[in-house]
Amino acid sequence: MNRIKYSAYLDKIQKPEKAALLIKNHHVIGVSGFTKAGDSKTVLPKVAERALHEELKITVLSGASLGYNTDADLAKNGALYKRMPFQADPTLRKSINNHEVLYVDQHLGQTADMLQHIDTFKIDVAIIEALAITKEGYIIPTTSVGNSPVFAEKADKIIIEINRTFPESLIGIHDVKFLKKQPYREVISILQSDTRIGEPYIKIDPQKVAAIVFTEVPDCPAVISAPDEKTTAISNHILQFLEKEVEEGRLTESLLPLQAGIGKTANAILSGFTNSKFKDLTMYSEVLQDSTFELFDSGKLLFASASSITITEECSKRVFDNFKKYKDKLILRPQNISNSAEVISRLGVIGINTAIEFDIYGNVNSTHIGGTKMMNGIGGSGDFARNGYLSIFACPSMSKQGCISHIVPMVSHTDHTEHDVDILVTDQGLADIRGLAPVERAKLIIQNCVHPDYKEQLLEYFEEAYKLGGHTPHILEKTFSWHSHLKTYGTMRK
Ligand code: COA
Repeated sequence: MNRIKYSAYLDKIQKPEKAALLIKNHHVIGVSGFTKAGDSKTVLPKVAERALHEELKITVLSGASLGYNTDADLAKNGALYKRMPFQADPTLRKSINNHEVLYVDQHLGQTADMLQHIDTFKIDVAIIEALAITKEGYIIPTTSVGNSPVFAEKADKIIIEINRTFPESLIGIHDVKFLKKQPYREVISILQSDTRIGEPYIKIDPQKVAAIVFTEVPDCPAVISAPDEKTTAISNHILQFLEKEVEEGRLTESLLPLQAGIGKTANAILSGFTNSKFKDLTMYSEVLQDSTFELFDSGKLLFASASSITITEECSKRVFDNFKKYKDKLILRPQNISNSAEVISRLGVIGINTAIEFDIYGNVNSTHIGGTKMMNGIGGSGDFARNGYLSIFACPSMSKQGCISHIVPMVSHTDHTEHDVDILVTDQGLADIRGLAPVERAKLIIQNCVHPDYKEQLLEYFEEAYKLGGHTPHILEKTFSWHSHLKTYGTMRK
């Protein structure tokens, strides 16, 4: 297949190392890529390489995390001044926590709005992976759409990286609409997961295209551990809860569109639906992991909308070698639409996300270890938690040989307040905290979610705090004592 249908671009074709020279010191660049899918595989790594030999400090905005070692190499080689709005790389994480790289952790649905509203926030160069170019010179993305439309709109120059490893049959799965900024924002008229409102390409100004490069590198495969005893228990608690909601007439057997976060817990939860009683399910999510394709294959899932497809090597072979089987069941959208508060609220999405820890009143920490060290970022969890029909947060009750309880007196960092959380679940059980006052919540959470090893210790804290009075009782001198005990003695056990 001839991937470039716009002949004026032919003389822009060049080697990645030459295209990488378009990025200058202090530049702000916007790159495609969302949780490892559809990112730059040749130009951005060449930019990282340049930083080894010359002064190059740049700000990198993406959709979400990048694949392979790109984020790691950018950080390690000293190329990064600032990174936003999400990352999930251990080396970059270390640089962020060591103050070598600035990081802006943002709701993934809000980066595009910020760029539209702040005129002074310039993008010098956008690097966007493409499956092909239309006859008008527009970009057909690959396995993610992310923030690419807004990057292309704002950038002075665009580098297009054509990836020939993806099959042509992906053409048509994207639905791209450029939203006007407020107060001119139009209604986003998505009425169900499969509604299309835009075009299957990213409209750009062809005059801005400064370079076209080719790549033959596939997406970096996701690595997901198989469901284990704990994640299976979590999944079963959620399924039982949803079955009860159906029995009591609040939901039907096809539930409402599902969203599932990233990581092994979220993937295991969604896998659990394969053998459930539910049918004709839909997803309105941001990342489609292996579990989405398991659900398609089992006949449980009718349709899935997201901003990226992030799957393992084995799943990728199965999916991309038979893409025609899945093509009519999928849409990939820009992340300000996959994560739009308006759409999530209208569809009544059931958001299932993962916590690092939560507290006895229902506040959730999704981002910071020990209250200070960045893990990955908030991602889209807040977009869904705040606006969906049901907001579920899950994590193990205890980990690291029992040294860490994931339920603590007070979270050491708050990403999702008690007001945005409906259901909390661990391997021990589930707490439905809807309509409960703080003290009612505390009792239920301790009873249902906490590991037996920590139950008494947490109950003791709550009872002592309760005696002091207050709507949300706390002993201020002791709120973070579990975290400081962990830091000093290596365990939260007192
Ligand atoms: N204290 C210390 N370390 C903790 C911890 C705690 N309370 N909770 C988790 N961790 C550590 C784990 O030990 C593990 O570290 P290790 O790899 O060294 O063992 C690591 O954090 C990941 O935890 P894991 O149990 O493997 O969970 P996961 O793969 O399900 O990921 C999150 C959990 C919270 C890190 C992940 O879901 C995330 O980044 N979420 C925020 C973004 C989001 O929700 N996005 C929505 C869709 S994009």
